[in-house]
Amino acid sequence: MNIKKLLQDSLEKSFEKLGYDKNDVTLTFSNRPEESDYQCNSAFALAKKQKLSPEAVANLIMENLEQDVAEVSFAKPGFINFKVKDEVLSKVLNDAMNDERLNLEKLENPIKVVMDYGGANVAKELHIGHLRSPVIGESLARLHKILGNEVITDTHLGDWGLQMGLTIAQLQDDGFVDGYFDSTKENKEITLDTLNEAYPKASKRKNDDLEFRKRAEDYTKFVQDHKEPYWSIYESIRSISIEKIKENYGKLNCFFDLWYGESTSADYVDTVVKMFVDKGLTREHEGAIVVDVAREGENIPIPKKNPDDPQMYKNPMPPVFLKKSNGADVYDTTDIATIYQRNIDFNPDRMMYVVDKRQNTHFEHCFRAVKMAGISSESQELQFVGNGTINGSDGKPFKTRSGDTIKLEDIIGLITNAAEQKLKSNGIEDTKDLALKIGVSAMKFGDLSNDPSKDYIFDIDKFVSFEGKTGPYIQYTGARIYSLLRKSGLFENDEIFKTINGKESLITNLGIENKNLIKITDKNQRSLAINFLRLQDSYFVGYKATSLSPVCNYLYEFASSFSKFYNDTKILSEQNEEVRNSYLAMCLFVLKVIKQASSVLAFDIPEKM
Ligand code: ARG
Repeated sequence: MNIKKLLQDSLEKSFEKLGYDKNDVTLTFSNRPEESDYQCNSAFALAKKQKLSPEAVANLIMENLEQDVAEVSFAKPGFINFKVKDEVLSKVLNDAMNDERLNLEKLENPIKVVMDYGGANVAKELHIGHLRSPVIGESLARLHKILGNEVITDTHLGDWGLQMGLTIAQLQDDGFVDGYFDSTKENKEITLDTLNEAYPKASKRKNDDLEFRKRAEDYTKFVQDHKEPYWSIYESIRSISIEKIKENYGKLNCFFDLWYGESTSADYVDTVVKMFVDKGLTREHEGAIVVDVAREGENIPIPKKNPDDPQMYKNPMPPVFLKKSNGADVYDTTDIATIYQRNIDFNPDRMMYVVDKRQNTHFEHCFRAVKMAGISSESQELQFVGNGTINGSDGKPFKTRSGDTIKLEDIIGLITNAAEQKLKSNGIEDTKDLALKIGVSAMKFGDLSNDPSKDYIFDIDKFVSFEGKTGPYIQYTGARIYSLLRKSGLFENDEIFKTINGKESLITNLGIENKNLIKITDKNQRSLAINFLRLQDSYFVGYKATSLSPVCNYLYEFASSFSKFYNDTKILSEQNEEVRNSYLAMCLFVLKVIKQASSVLAFDIPEKM
């Protein structure tokens, strides 16, 4: 039962009877929750059209309303208020309790979406710049899925660029790969640490050492041509890196359907380049093949002050590079070929990219190019979700004390330690796994409560607090419920949920499931129930806005509303068994809601904390 929809329908019918336009119906959650649950403010606008007072119009609408889910009342000067009946609310909750998805509606027209997030680079250490994309991307993917979209997630590893050639050249100079070039010699073992040293060293060197840079460019091209021994070295670097990347993403609860990379698109590059050439869209630029995508008023050269100045542009929209002058593929090439490949494999309605917002121009020009070449149909949506920067308390990008970029692993460590300290101060010891769970929720909630495009301040103390609008507060609310339910003795072996055939089931002696146990009788229960009705909205609003912040806000409000109920109600000591069971069922219900919404945010609710 969708209460809002029922009320909306009855209002529309009443409007039709009165000869009003049913599009004029406005129905929202009430601004004054003490007085009503929903309100309709349509009478104000209609009064002008009808040349009547708002009160007269409201009364007419009310006289023609046919529904039995809510008490209707009028409030001056023209509001129609709805207060949902307690027994109706009870039924909604009991029904939702017995439904795996809490009876939430899905999108009317679900779509197929390929989501591209994560985007770690092979051979380069993951750092703080790689935190937001997987966090936001994973949650958006889950939000889409819960609303019924078909979602395919791909991490799109950076594994085809110059960093490959640079790393190989550096490993060669440091004597790690001699055996690959000369069978009488030995290779040294390449570990993650070797790579973490090699790439930054090479990256610095390339700026002054032109021979080195040229060699790295050649090696990159050799890798792209599958030339030995470069290809074999590349493959070993790739697999060492990926293992670590998977481990780190796993800690963040990020799981991908596809572990493709830029390299996966290599097979399609020739076809794609030919499509541009055949359409006459390419031109040669200093030996490279480029496609102009700038529109009027964009990419206008600013006159140089002296001939040695680099060229500057007004409204820059540089051309797309399909091939470098040495024939190598670049970032544009692989992204365009990947769009082609994704269309062959999945032909999705939408491709979504969750990437640092500074890559905006790159995506804009790739998107334009694929539309021009017909690689992406006119109706296919290509969506760039640019994410902002994580700043320190000084408002500048978050750095280590010594001013270095901070590694992803270290940032996970920092927040996990902070969570561990918190647990210790609450008397809970030896809790590495728990601390990680709390740290991850702290980090995610701190991030996701902001819109993706906004920068935010990484405030560890605030994020790990068990109070206020934080992930750990949500977890703590859940853990409290677990503890209460265990104490109730209603659950077998203290186990409350069990996974059976991949589905979560309740394990209870009294068979809480399938019984209409929840009976709403007081104000706190009512406000919890009304709050539950907003869950659906938070998903839809977040979906439309491509942001998880409505879901975070929701969870916080809902958890706070539970705390009020919990503090005001004697649950376990209630003598009347029916009432006690109703309270317990309500707690169980709240736990299910919290678990569902936090699984969208991709963090866990621990059973104890
Ligand atoms: N590897 C890229 C980086 O580190 C991000 C990849 C984003 N996705 C894409 N399809 N380009 O900046």
